Amino acid sequence: MTVIQQLCGDRMKIIMFFPLLLLVCSVSATETETAVQQPCPQDIHAVLRELTASLAVQNERITVLQKENQEQAAKLESQKIETDKLMQQLQVKQVAFSASLLDQGSRETGPFNTEITLVFKRVVTNIGNAYNPHTGIFTAPVRGVYHFVWSLYGDGNIAAGGVLFRNGEHIFIAYEHQTSGGVSTSNGASLLLEVGDQVSVRLFVGARLNDSQNHHNTFSGHLIFPM
Ligand SMILES: *[C@@H]1O[C@H](CO)[C@@H](O)[C@H](O)[C@H]1NC(C)=O
Repeated sequence: MTVIQQLCGDRMKIIMFFPLLLLVCSVSATETETAVQQPCPQDIHAVLRELTASLAVQNERITVLQKENQEQAAKLESQKIETDKLMQQLQVKQVAFSASLLDQGSRETGPFNTEITLVFKRVVTNIGNAYNPHTGIFTAPVRGVYHFVWSLYGDGNIAAGGVLFRNGEHIFIAYEHQTSGGVSTSNGASLLLEVGDQVSVRLFVGARLNDSQNHHNTFSGHLIFPM
């Protein structure tokens, strides 16, 4: 939009108008002197009609642009969500923990007549803090394949055994029973976990573990790759 001052007869008017009006009302440089003396164009209504038509066209363009803009914004938003998801995966791709049963002393655990979750209290590694040493439960922070290993130790006579659980599901057992001496048993599993899935080791019914400062009983887990 342009602002010009135009002399119409003996009156000065200030008119704000589109370049279109400039074409209708303006005069060439050589005609300026005489044009100043001429009255305003008679077809001001025609000019206004043209302006109105032009405005309608502009409005249409604006509507199209606004629509395009909204589409672009929606596209950007969904790209941002995708990027955030990838960033989140990258940030939590480092998950590894290792813990042993007792934080101090020597003690037997079990036997019990129900399965109890073993709380491995002595944490030596907990990258990503996905393992909780107060509950013994590992919670998957990202969807992916994880590998778990658990190793248990007991005193003959009574079995040593523990079951790997994903949520409420019995996955594998590590179990050993012999008539005397120390027994050791271990197992491993690779599991596809969804975010929030919980993995733990439960002492097998009737089994007993021995642990000491030597840290015989261990539970470890690692994220192999996110999916
Ligand atoms: C298990 O613990 C009991 C009690 O502390 C002990 O008598 C026994 O020798 C231990 N067994 C082994 C194999 O460490």
